[in-house]
Amino acid sequence: MIRRTFLTHALGVGGLALLPGWLRAQSMDHSMHDMAGMDHSMSTPLPQGLAATDALPRGAALGPLHRLSNQSSQPGLFKAELSAAPVQVELLPGQPTTFWAYNASIPGPLIEVNEGDRVEVRFINRLSQPSTVHWHGLPVPPEQDGNPHDPVPPGGERTYSFNLPKGSAGTYWYHPHPHGHTAEQAFRGLAAPFIVRASDDPLSGISERHLLLSDLKLNADGSIPDNDANDWMNGREGQFVLINGQHQPTLELHGPERWRLWNACSARYLRLNLGGHSFSLVGSDGGLLEQPQAMTEILLAPAERIEIIVQPGSEQRQFALTAEIYDRNKMGSVAAEQVITLARISLSAGQAVSLPTTLRSIADLGPASAHKRVVFSENMRMDNGQHQMDFLVNGKSFDMQRVDLTSKLGEVELWELVNDSHMDHPFHIHGCQFQVIEHELNGVKTPAPYRAWKDTINLRPRETIRVKMAQPFKGLRMFHCHILEHENQGMMGMLEVI
Ligand code: C2O
Ligand code: CU
Ligand code: CU
Repeated sequence: MIRRTFLTHALGVGGLALLPGWLRAQSMDHSMHDMAGMDHSMSTPLPQGLAATDALPRGAALGPLHRLSNQSSQPGLFKAELSAAPVQVELLPGQPTTFWAYNASIPGPLIEVNEGDRVEVRFINRLSQPSTVHWHGLPVPPEQDGNPHDPVPPGGERTYSFNLPKGSAGTYWYHPHPHGHTAEQAFRGLAAPFIVRASDDPLSGISERHLLLSDLKLNADGSIPDNDANDWMNGREGQFVLINGQHQPTLELHGPERWRLWNACSARYLRLNLGGHSFSLVGSDGGLLEQPQAMTEILLAPAERIEIIVQPGSEQRQFALTAEIYDRNKMGSVAAEQVITLARISLSAGQAVSLPTTLRSIADLGPASAHKRVVFSENMRMDNGQHQMDFLVNGKSFDMQRVDLTSKLGEVELWELVNDSHMDHPFHIHGCQFQVIEHELNGVKTPAPYRAWKDTINLRPRETIRVKMAQPFKGLRMFHCHILEHENQGMMGMLEVI
């Protein structure tokens, strides 16, 4: 069951056809909601100019994601139009916020297709900057993947088209990737979910719910500030974390649910906890795991996605979905990390659904015949009397004209990912999914606890992670840190597949 009541309500409020439903409805509900609550999030004083942490209403029922509707009636073809444009949303009463949004929706609309489908999206850029649409995690050819080399100029358009093969079912997203503007376009609102479904999904009988987590830094006057020096250094974190564009929504569960979660924040790590209630991890970035994994918390680094099953218990329970404290070793004098309340959950007592012991089989990629090494590092230097930070891959800053690594089409490779710095960095590579083999920290090697497909993996300071992958297409691929400020400042490299 995906709750539709909220959408109906939002659209019923009247005449603001292009505004995102949740945000609009929330601002309408502003005066009706009791602000008292058990909020223990971010009580530290905020930098001057930012909106207070209680400035956004909270507590409304979580609405479903907006959907991008399919204009094609041809089976196996998904065809739609997507525009990136500024849109005004009244979050703070009388102080409209200008977001940059896909089809006027925050977050952008969900694209939902089936394995085997062809996707054709006509993209229109109504921003004042070049943009692209990057299909994060999906196996699409490089020339369709929104590389910084293929910008769509302001006022321009292009059609992205690709086929999604059997085996690609999973939870993905799309966002801009233009040279030098990715971080800004994402934090101003351009990020959206993408789901590929399989016809033989063993969990298809369980009600599904979607939670796209994004970060919002908002000024008291309703504007979205530019990045400051601290944002550029540590990655941008705002004073609000939104779910499907809503602040601290309420979720009512009346039975087992399958949740898909996206960390679409620029830099925020989400150590998710369901009030200690245990859940089963069933999917990662690239679809289902082999076996469900029981857990009570999970760290979701920026750009990672998971699927979990939340089961009812023997008695009714109320708790918060929180992001617990996670220390990612930020630099400089930053506020102490705080627990963040993301949502309030009310769980009815009920019967748990029994999960299949095997969800699918994931074949080992087999022995690697090539080897690669990627080292993330930071370098502090003085520039005109100012401390300047460089974020580097293999000692170099990103250059669009330089190929850093070369792979052969289809060859199984072992990649050694090294974090030679004192801050966490999430590694991401375009156009393929990898299998984690092992982690190594302080000389201790830990094998991956289960086999899974991933396109993003966090590297702790001084950690090495070994992964295996094979490239499905020829052409140019980006790999980078998914703290978008770091990517923007050069922590990105280029792979050429020949
Ligand atoms: Cu989310 Cu270069 O990607
Ligand atoms: Cu990507
Ligand atoms: Cu980084």
